Amino acid sequence: MRIFIDSANIEEIRDINSMGFLAGVTTNPSLVAKEKRDYHEVLKEICSIVDGPISAEVIAQDYKGMLAEAEILAAIHPNVVIKIALTEEGLKVIKKLHEKGIKTNATLVFSANQALLAARAGASFVSPFLGRVDDNGNDGLILLEDIMTIFNQYMLDTEVIAASIRHPMHVLQSAKIGSHIATVPYNVIKQMIKHPLTDAGIDKFLNDWEQAFPGTQQ
Ligand code: E4P
Repeated sequence: MRIFIDSANIEEIRDINSMGFLAGVTTNPSLVAKEKRDYHEVLKEICSIVDGPISAEVIAQDYKGMLAEAEILAAIHPNVVIKIALTEEGLKVIKKLHEKGIKTNATLVFSANQALLAARAGASFVSPFLGRVDDNGNDGLILLEDIMTIFNQYMLDTEVIAASIRHPMHVLQSAKIGSHIATVPYNVIKQMIKHPLTDAGIDKFLNDWEQAFPGTQQ
């Protein structure tokens, strides 16, 4: 499973990218709004840092508006993937962009049927929102399992991005289920890295070293 970061914050993206495992970025209007910066400038900067798919969401919800925004966003960089909410109009835009060779990420996916339709319409990625499903009293991982079963059964090319990740167990379970990608917030990536036994192990090694060779640590 590949790891994307779900963020529009340049410092977070730079920090995680420098660790070598980052394969892409997803943004959304709420994440971009937090940055209080020009959307296109933020996107250009992200594309200059990370070499992988960078999802950018359209704001318009009508066919013409979505298409117009999508074309402007796609022209920013070849790695830009257009995020389109899973609606009737959205599916039409996904189809059109697929015909034009522009990659799409069907977002706000809350059912396996929505995911199947997006894949058949030509979406490059679909993003089931695990955390928001959980918040609503259901199990986001069951949704992910259903989508993976269907996509594997019919050998669909569309890649699945486990999204709305809230904690490291979401990432672990998504990997076990076979999700192609998880898009993970900065704080959850940090939680995935840290382990108290690693910290305790370092302390013990350094302490033992200091006892044996006092004053030689860098
Ligand atoms: C996915 O692409 C979305 O940006 C994101 O995962 C939404 O997560 P949230 O439910 O934490 O806002």
